[in-house]
Amino acid sequence: MATGRAFLISAVSLSLAACSGRQSSLDPQGPYAQQIANLFWAFLAVCALIWLAVCVVLSIAVIRRRAARPQPLELAPARERMMGQLVLSLGGGTGVIVIAFALISYVAQRNLWAEPNSGMTLRVVGHQWWWEVLYDDPQPARNFITANEIHIPVNTLVRVRLETRDVIHSFWVPSLAGKMDQISGHINEQLLLAARPGIYRGQCAEFCGQEHAKMAFSVVASSPEEFDAWRDGQIRAAAPPEGPERRRGRHVFESHSCLVCHTIRGTIAGGKFGPDLTHLASRRSIAAGTAPLTAGHLGGWIADPQHLKPGTQMPPGDLGGADLSALVAYLMGLQ
Ligand code: CUA
Repeated sequence: MATGRAFLISAVSLSLAACSGRQSSLDPQGPYAQQIANLFWAFLAVCALIWLAVCVVLSIAVIRRRAARPQPLELAPARERMMGQLVLSLGGGTGVIVIAFALISYVAQRNLWAEPNSGMTLRVVGHQWWWEVLYDDPQPARNFITANEIHIPVNTLVRVRLETRDVIHSFWVPSLAGKMDQISGHINEQLLLAARPGIYRGQCAEFCGQEHAKMAFSVVASSPEEFDAWRDGQIRAAAPPEGPERRRGRHVFESHSCLVCHTIRGTIAGGKFGPDLTHLASRRSIAAGTAPLTAGHLGGWIADPQHLKPGTQMPPGDLGGADLSALVAYLMGLQ
């Protein structure tokens, strides 16, 4: 008995645990996600009521079964009329429910696509398998690029312009908005609005190859002051490395193939194939949310990327131990 109760409690809490947290459509953190959650609950409530009604009627029919009629083919006109009316009214009711569903979906769609005339715009480009995030500014000197981590000010409408460099990806931050595909040669848009500060997880929602599952990102919603401070920090070029270890790391970076794919503003590295690393150490994770950013994970990632993310297009570092630790020390200093 006690085992049964424990099982029931853990089953219920496990199923509810999936409904909250930093990546859940059922725990909306902004008005756009709220629209979608409302729609889900309205559909679920109506469908659950219909399902319950069908179960009740079916149970009654099974329990209160009438005796077999001597002449089953004989029609009772009054009864036939009543059944006809019942079927007709249930059919009409179904039609009304479908139309009501269509109407509330239409209203939700209108609210989701309301044209904003304020807020900020940024671009997110999907790559196999990471996200390039571009903050464009009317002053070109204030443009910058980052990866796999989107910062937005809270309570500000953010228009995200979505592109892809290769295959179709899908941009999805369940706690903040619905999904939107990134299609080659076409720009789609998604509106984000976070009502509360927090870190919300996003995930590619369109199968895009071997590492589709490891194509995640974070949306960090913070106060406008914190966001401005973050942006000012990102606009700056990387500070020159301090200490012999980090200076050696920078030399390793600039004298190996790293600079072919990566940019670090303030150095000679200007590669565009992989993520911009100018402020790598200000991010929370590496390899598009695959591992937290620690010196250990970063070293492992550079030494053997295929181990952490099989299929990734990052080649192995092929560095000696001292060079590798100097490189990690340098990269971990890129605040
Ligand atoms: Cu990108 Cu799945």
